[in-house]
Amino acid sequence: MALVKVSEILRRADEANTSAIAFNCTDYNMSYSVVAVAEELKKPVIIMLYPEHSHLNNCTQLAGFAGMIRELAEQVETPIGLHLDHSSDYNYIMKAIRAGFPSVMIDGSMLSLEENILITKKVVETAKNFGCDVEAELGRVGFAANSDQDNLDMYTRADVAAKFCKETGVDSVAVAIGSAHGVYIETPKLDLKRLDEINSATDIPLVLHGGSGIPAEQLEIAFTKGINKFNVGTEFFQLYYDSIKEYCEECKEKGNVFDMPKYVQNKLMNYLREKMKLCKM
Ligand code: 13P
Repeated sequence: MALVKVSEILRRADEANTSAIAFNCTDYNMSYSVVAVAEELKKPVIIMLYPEHSHLNNCTQLAGFAGMIRELAEQVETPIGLHLDHSSDYNYIMKAIRAGFPSVMIDGSMLSLEENILITKKVVETAKNFGCDVEAELGRVGFAANSDQDNLDMYTRADVAAKFCKETGVDSVAVAIGSAHGVYIETPKLDLKRLDEINSATDIPLVLHGGSGIPAEQLEIAFTKGINKFNVGTEFFQLYYDSIKEYCEECKEKGNVFDMPKYVQNKLMNYLREKMKLCKM
């Protein structure tokens, strides 16, 4: 089927009291594996592109990536969403929308609250004209390498979240409740009481970033307390690169370079089958 709006996938997740999973992907191997497992398990899924993977790391291009996901989605029955992850650049976001991204994130979490509201509102107003969904970030989900997940000053406050959602009209909001991007030094502990408060104070889907390495028991509770989108990147990338390395080592003798995609996709799909069990739709 055609791509399904991310807001529609999150609405269904909310109805089922669970979370959709959103995977950062850079290329066909990763995207194909996500779509294939979603179809096998009959679960909706969201594919995200992190801007730097396009304009800095030369992994892909905006329109090329959007077209690839659109084509993959059309070959399956399960709902597939496409989303541009973290961007703080209004012009880049507009470029992504024009390139075919039906959902974008405006990350104003480094700005003051007033500035975050202003830029988010501006993106929402323009994106609506294109029927595009918008995710924002409030508080700041930092980096695990800096132990930002322990810095309470960066956490989202329920009263501020209520004001932010009302004033911006955003479709979903990423909250800082004890997760961070990258590899955790110590096992993170989500502030589920704070999540409850934010959930009661707001009426839009909440998003949990920094999904690699959070214990499943904590996620299962968080998914019943308003988290309807759960972002995973680091552990998926790590497995991808490890699998390529493993293939190169194992297959040095055999010399068949064309088997690499299937070998790697197989490894990714085994991981995805386990991870997607967290989504109860
Ligand atoms: P991880 O890379 O820590 O899994 O986080 C992914 C993410 O939040 C993307 O927005």
